[in-house]
Order: sequence, then structure tokens, then C-alpha cells
Amino acid sequence: MATAPIRIQPKNRILAWIEDRLPIQSFLATHTSEYYAPKNFNLWYYFGSLALLVLVNQIVTGIFLTMFYKPDAAQAFASVEYIMRDVDWGWLIRYMHEVGASMFFIVVYLHMFRGLMYGSYKKPRELVWLLGMLIFLALMAEAFMGYVLPWGNMSFWGAKVIISLFGAIPVVGDALVQWIMGDYVPADATLNRFFALHVIALPLVLLLLVVLHLAALHEVGSNNPDGVEIKDKKTPEGKPLDGIPFHPYYTVKDLFGVGFFLILCAFLIFFQPTLGGWFLEPDNFIPANNLVTPEHIKPVWYFTPFYAMLRMIPAKLPGVITMFVGIIALFLVPWLDRGRVKSVRYRGLGYKIGLGLFVISFVMLGAVGAGVTTEVIPQWFGANADVTTIENAFGRFWLAIYLLSFVGLWAYTYFGFEKTKPVPERVTTHD
Ligand code: HEM
Repeated sequence: MATAPIRIQPKNRILAWIEDRLPIQSFLATHTSEYYAPKNFNLWYYFGSLALLVLVNQIVTGIFLTMFYKPDAAQAFASVEYIMRDVDWGWLIRYMHEVGASMFFIVVYLHMFRGLMYGSYKKPRELVWLLGMLIFLALMAEAFMGYVLPWGNMSFWGAKVIISLFGAIPVVGDALVQWIMGDYVPADATLNRFFALHVIALPLVLLLLVVLHLAALHEVGSNNPDGVEIKDKKTPEGKPLDGIPFHPYYTVKDLFGVGFFLILCAFLIFFQPTLGGWFLEPDNFIPANNLVTPEHIKPVWYFTPFYAMLRMIPAKLPGVITMFVGIIALFLVPWLDRGRVKSVRYRGLGYKIGLGLFVISFVMLGAVGAGVTTEVIPQWFGANADVTTIENAFGRFWLAIYLLSFVGLWAYTYFGFEKTKPVPERVTTHD
């Protein structure tokens, strides 16, 4: 939580000289050993630090990939093969980057879910949430452009489908599509600009947003699984009664999470780098070919819920608008939720059901977008089943539930239907 900046006076004369001019040690102390975090953090509080770890992994492995990759439509695919086969440890660097992308989304989705569960988006943390949502948008753009770079067949067709969405915008749409591509189809110019955006522009934006996200968080202090504001109860020295210094207590706790997480990542990188096509689709092992369309054009798993929102609406513009609404709704959560109680532990049954339905609808839309339903329907309904009709009914049902979960959240809290439990004065622990 926000404490007055600490001033450290190092004994060493050189360090003291530096500190007088650039108070680095004081800054670090203010944000670690003197930053008091609630003492009841649980497993859900690992994902922020893990997201930071993955961000660093993506940047470091990305720098090494950039040393060997060629952003040229005639050479890109072969340069990735070269990295995989000929560059020393190139396969490892590439798989760390590629598995890292999926891990990023897993960690960020769990991190967002934690925020929804414990009401971390509520006053005074609305900005922490909004900055988080901007990070999420930047991350989606970053991942999309990264996927185009190997110039595999799914890179090409994915880029074509997604960039063409801008064509749905009235009047300027077609001109905009050409402007983004720099050509009439995704081509060398597209690859070059996506490379520039992927390796420098968007990482800078992401880093800046993450710094702002953490600065905003440290200003107001972390929430916790009880949703109790720890700064309300302080010792005579002004330290929160329910807080403990972030360092060493949470640095050690986070390190344990890092160890566990790295074991999981190592398993995936060494044994399941494509996860059966979920992390990297088979069509991307074929060079880009504008004459051969993949059987099913679909994005990587982390985009599939949003892709389904688009596909479930028959016309292009309404589809794009629906997807847009599906994302904007997440930005608005701090204002849609009018309830006073933060943590799901003390909220009404309606909130719990709503949150559950939101998660299920998101997963179901993901399954539709990934084409799981296309494969499963003939197995369940027989070979002659009308896959499109059943899939549309299923997808539209879950799309409605997804959107209604936001409307429901507002109505439930605005009209005072929610019956909450009493929130404890102090955080609860299990010791
Ligand atoms: C690169 C991506 C991200 C990084 C590196 C990151 C990092 C962090 C870190 C280190 C924390 C403090 C530790 C913790 O509470 O787990 C945090 C807190 C938080 N983040 Fe993020 N975050 C990212 C994305 C997001 C996104 C996409 C959202 C939501 C839209 C979000 C919302 C929040 C909220 C609400 C908190 C405060 C949680 C609380 O105090 O209960 N973050 N973030």
C-alpha cells in the first residue's frame, strides 16, 4: 500500500554519493521491503509475478530469435526452419518463445479471473484494472503479429482474415485494409511492418503499461481474498496490522510459484511444444501459400472465444461490433458492478452464479472458435447432422450468456437484489 517514500542512507561512500543523486536503493526499498501487502494472499496471487516472468522470457528469447530471423516474405519461413535445425539451441529459444506466448495468456486469464473473484477492479483500484485491460489489448495485438512472422500458411490466412475485419468499417473499410497490409493481400510489406511492431513498438507499449499498472497498484495497495482494506487498521507506527513487507515474505512465496511454474513450462517445452496443435497449428508448418486455404482457418486457442463472437453473427459488421462489445464490457466491469462487497467470499449467490456462467460461456465460446464443436457434433449427433445449424445454436446461446452476464451483474447490483454476508473487519487466515 502507498507509504511515504523511504530514504536510505548507505554507509558506503560511493553508494551514498549515487543515492544522493539517484535514490535507487530508496526506490527499491519503498516498493519491496517497505511495501506492505496483505498477509492473506493465496494461490491466485501468484499470477501477477508469473506474468512479469513470462514478459521477461518473451523479451529475452525474442531478442535471440531476432538475431537469426529474416523479416522477408521470401526468407521468413526458411529462416525459422534454420533456427530450428541449424542454430545452436535455436529450437529451445524458439519453443521457449512459442510456449511462452500461450503461457502468457494462461497466466493473464487466471490473473484477470482473480481480479473478478475478489473485486480487485473496485474503488480504489479501477485504474489498475483499466491499465490491465489495455495490457490485455496490447498483448493480443503482440501475439497476433508474432504469429504472422513465421510466414506459415496459417500466418498468412490468419492475417488475411483478421486484417479484412477492418473492411467491415463503412466507407473507409477497404482503403483501411489496403493501408494496413500495404498491399492487396498480406505480403512482404505486411510482414515488414508487423515485424517492426512485434519486436519494438508493442513491447515498448507493453512495458510502459506494466510499469503504470504496478505504479497504480502500489499507490492504492493490493486487494486480497477477503476484500478488506488493510490500510484501515494500522499500528501506532502507521504499519497496516494485516500487512507484511513484500520483501522478503512475498518474494520468497513468489519464488516458490516460479519454481513450480518453470517445471510445468519445461515439461511443455521439451515434451509438448505444440500441444497437439493447440499452441502451434499444423498448418503453420507449411509455407504461406495464397492459393491454398487451410481447411479450417482458426486462431490460436487464446483468441478463440473472441473469434467465436465474430463467427456466430452472420454479417461482418455486426459480428465485429459484437466482438468489440464483448471486449469493451470487460473494461466497464468496475462501473457495471454497483455492489459494495468486493470478495466473492461474502457476495450473494447471484454474483457467484453470474461469475460461473461468465467463465463457462467464455470456455464454450473458445471451444466453438477452436472448431471443437465442428468435430464433436457429427460424433454426438450422427454423420448426417447439420453441423452449422447445431454449432450456431450452441455458440449463440453461450454468446448470449456471455453478454447477459455483464447486464446481469449491473441489474443484480443496481436494483439491490444482492444479499451479501458480513465482511470481517480484519483479514482471515487459516493458521
Ligand atoms: C503483462 C501482463 C500483466 C502483468 C505483468 C501484471 C502484473 C501484475 C502484478 C505483478 C500485480 C501484483 C501481484 C498480484 O496481484 O498478482 C498485478 C495486480 C493486478 N492486476 Fe495485473 N498484470 C498484467 C495484466 C493484467 C490484466 C490483463 C488485468 C485485468 C484486466 C490485470 C489486473 C490486475 C489487478 C486488478 C490487480 C490488483 C489485484 C489485487 O490487488 O487483488 N492485470 N498485476
